[in-house]
Amino acid sequence: MQTKYLHFNDADLQLAGKLIRDGQLVAFPTETVYGLGADAYNENAVKSTYLAKGRPSDNPLIVHIWNKSQIADVASYVSADARKVIDSLMPASLTVVLPKRKEISDCITAGLNTVAIRMPRSQQARDFLRYADRPVTAPSANISGRPSPTCWQRVAEDMDGKIAAVLCGDDCEVGIESTVLDLSGDSPVILRPGAVTPQQIQAVLGKPVNVITDPKSKVNSPGVRYKHYAPCVPMALDISGNAAKLCSYYDELVARGYRPVLLAADTQRFGGRNCCDIGSTDEQVAHALFENLRKLERQYDYIIASYTSDTPFAQSILNRLVRSAGGNVI
Ligand code: TXA
Ligand code: MG
Repeated sequence: MQTKYLHFNDADLQLAGKLIRDGQLVAFPTETVYGLGADAYNENAVKSTYLAKGRPSDNPLIVHIWNKSQIADVASYVSADARKVIDSLMPASLTVVLPKRKEISDCITAGLNTVAIRMPRSQQARDFLRYADRPVTAPSANISGRPSPTCWQRVAEDMDGKIAAVLCGDDCEVGIESTVLDLSGDSPVILRPGAVTPQQIQAVLGKPVNVITDPKSKVNSPGVRYKHYAPCVPMALDISGNAAKLCSYYDELVARGYRPVLLAADTQRFGGRNCCDIGSTDEQVAHALFENLRKLERQYDYIIASYTSDTPFAQSILNRLVRSAGGNVI
C-alpha cells in the first residue's frame, strides 16, 4: 500500500476524514503522541489497527472524540465523579474509562464492559476528528513495543506502506501518553500515569485517587502488562544521578566492547564520554524522551539513562523510562 502524506489544509483534512469513513487507517498528531486512527464503528477497520501495529488483541483501544456530546454515543453511564472530570479537565491529555454502550465493539474494548475515551487538547487532533465525523479509535502509531512516535517522521518509520495516510502535523508538545483514569467503579483509579497528574485529578474530585503501580495487578490497564517504549538496543536506568557511578557503568560497558551513550542532565559532568542531554525540566524531558530513544538507538548500542526528578509529573516519565529499560534499574 502506498501511504499518503497529508497536511492540515481543508482538502487534505477532507480526504483524511473520508479515508477513516471508508475503513482505512490514518495516523494523526495529538499533544501527547501520534495516534493511529480508525472508525470506531467499523470492526474491520479497528481490527486492522492491531494488525498494522502487531498489537496483542487483548489490549483495548482508546476512543477519541472532539466534542463532549459524543461521550453519550460511546459510554452508557457517566457518574458524578466522571461528570466533574469531564467538565473541569477535558479536553486534556487524559483518558477516562467509563461503562461502555453495547454498540461499542469488543474489538475496541478487548471484551471489557468499559471503554476508554479521550478528547485531545491539540487543535490539530480535534480538527481531524471533526472531519472524521465519528468516534475514532487510536493507539499510539508505533509498532507494538517501540517508543511512541512524537513526530510524523517516526510514524512513517514504523507505518509507511502499512496504512492509508499520515496527517503530518506538529511535533507532540507533551511527548508521553495520556493519563488513563478509571471512573467506571466506586472509586477513581489511575491505571496509567501520564501528562495529567493525580494531584490535578484530586483537586477536581476533592478526594484521593489511587494510582496502580504494580504492572501485574488484575485491575490494571491491560496494555501496561506488555513490553513497551523499548529502544532496539539494551538500556539501563539510573535514578541516583551519581556521576561517578554512571561513569564507571559506562566504562565497564566500553571494556566489554559496547559503544554506550549517557542520556542525562548536566552532561559536562561526564568527562567527554558520549552524552545526550535529557533536558532540564520535566516538560523538556517528556517532550524529547521517545525521540531521544529513537535517535540514540541508531548511533549507539547501549543507552544509560539517568533521571532524578521526583515531582508528580516525573512519576509518569519514570514509569516510561523503567519500561523502556525493561526494568533494568541500576
Ligand atoms: O496519549 C494517548 O493516550 C495516546 C494518543 C494517541 O491518544 N494513545 C495511546 O494509546 O497511548 P495506546 O493504545 O498506546 O494505550 C492505550 C492504553 C492501554 O494501556 C490500554 O490498556 C488502556 O489504554 N485502555 C484502553 N481501554 C481500556 C479499558 N476499557 N480499560 C482499561 N484500560 C484501557
Ligand atoms: Mg502505546
